[in-house]
Parts: sequence; structure tokens; C-alpha cells
Amino acid sequence: MPLVKRFGPPAAGAIVDIAPTASDETAWFADIISDIIYSFEKEAGRRPLIALSGGTTPGSIYARLAVAHPTLVRRALWCQADERDVAPNDPASNSGMICRTLFGTQPTDPPAHFLTVSLPASDACSAALAYARLLSTHLAELGTGSIDIVLLGIGEDGHTASLFPGTDWRTRSEPLFAAVDAALPAGRRYTLTLKSILEAKHRIFIVRGEAKAEIVRRILLEAPDNLPSGAIVRAAETRWLLDAGSATKLE
Ligand code: 6PG
Repeated sequence: MPLVKRFGPPAAGAIVDIAPTASDETAWFADIISDIIYSFEKEAGRRPLIALSGGTTPGSIYARLAVAHPTLVRRALWCQADERDVAPNDPASNSGMICRTLFGTQPTDPPAHFLTVSLPASDACSAALAYARLLSTHLAELGTGSIDIVLLGIGEDGHTASLFPGTDWRTRSEPLFAAVDAALPAGRRYTLTLKSILEAKHRIFIVRGEAKAEIVRRILLEAPDNLPSGAIVRAAETRWLLDAGSATKLE
């Protein structure tokens, strides 16, 4: 299987890197991500604002980034692609996981260069609006109007960040960040909007595990517009970092 494949149309240009089986896979993911960040810094001449997803896939990769590229981690500005409606020290918290893995801090003590959603919140919409304003302030300080790099995961249902099929992910009017419906099986979430993900300069999907092989195949080969990941792939260029298991149906 070639280690780099390109898809499109209907994808708008998806570049897929597949981890070589003999490699230290986590190091491979971390090194490609760091290469993308370094290249961005060199081209833009400034630190990037990088949005991080949660879930179970990226933690080991974040931890490897911290060990292998500590200066880069300290230099960049980081934010959240999405968050669950829990306090930072809750095991389900994305910001808590990111603090522990990427920054080596307690979940309740995020570093200044990691912008976190202020939770728990009495009012979800106000919390999302406050976070959107925080992002906007930092984007203005960086002299840019959009997030530079978004690291995304994907669910087997085609969700990404906390944009879930069957919700109003496509029609949200918030420009940057929104609170999404608690009626979800996943419960209330906070997420970058479709608009902010499409306007980002780079979108990188990080996927591991054979369980994701079918959704990866569907999204890359069919780009179904009714699924958040499919709509993103159809509308904007994406990078995909896959392990061998998640790439098995791309033959
Ligand atoms: C979250 C994530 C979410 C995740 C996918 C994949 O808050 O759960 O941001 O979008 O990336 O659900 O999750 P896994 O990595 O656990 O498979």
C-alpha cells in the first residue's frame, strides 16, 4: 500500500499519509504534525493558533509531541476544537486530557498558551460565546482571521469535533464556536463551527484503528455531504494521517 495517496473529487483534495507498519507509529504521527506546524511557522513568520480535538486517539500523540518537540509546544498557541460539558478534572474532559498529555500540567492549571473553554458553566451559550470572543481576541493579536491548524478526529458516524449528524451542524450561525444540543447521546458539547473549520488554513484528520476503516473509506471516496466530515472533505482540502488499520479499505 503506497504511504501517500490523494483523493478527489468528490473530495476537494485530500492528502492521505499512512503510517508505515514498521515505524514507531505514535512518533510517526507526532513528527508529521510537527513538520506541518514548523512549515506553517516558516511560511507565516509567526506562531500558529492550533485547535486540538479530544477523544481517545490523540492523547499519546500529544504526549509524544511534548517529549519530541517541547520548544514547538511552548512556542505555539493552542485552543480546543471541542469540549464536553464537564469540569476540567473530569476524566471525560478534553482540556484535562490535553493538559496532562501535551503540557504535563494538572487539568485545573492549563498553561497560558492553551486557551480552554471555561467550564462548568451555568449557561452553555454564554460559555461558548465567551470562548469565541477569546479566540477572536487571540486571532486579532496574531493578525489573522481564522484558526491556522485544526487537528480533527472522526467518529464512526462521521462526526468530527462535536459536529454530529442529525443536529444543526450545518446551519449554526455562530461564526467560530458554539454550544450544541444536550439531546445528543454524547450530551451537551461545545465545538468549533463548520464555518470555522472550513476557514482554517489547515485541517488534519488523525485516525487510528480498523473500526474507523469504513467511515474513512466513505468520507474519502464518497464525501457524503450529509455527514459533517463528508461536508468538510467536499468543501476544503484536508490532510489525513492514518494508521494501517484505519486505511485498510482504501486499497
Ligand atoms: C471528542 C472529540 C471527537 C473525537 C472523535 C473520535 O470530544 O470526543 O473531539 O470529535 O475526535 O469522537 O474520537 P476517538 O479518538 O475517541 O475515536
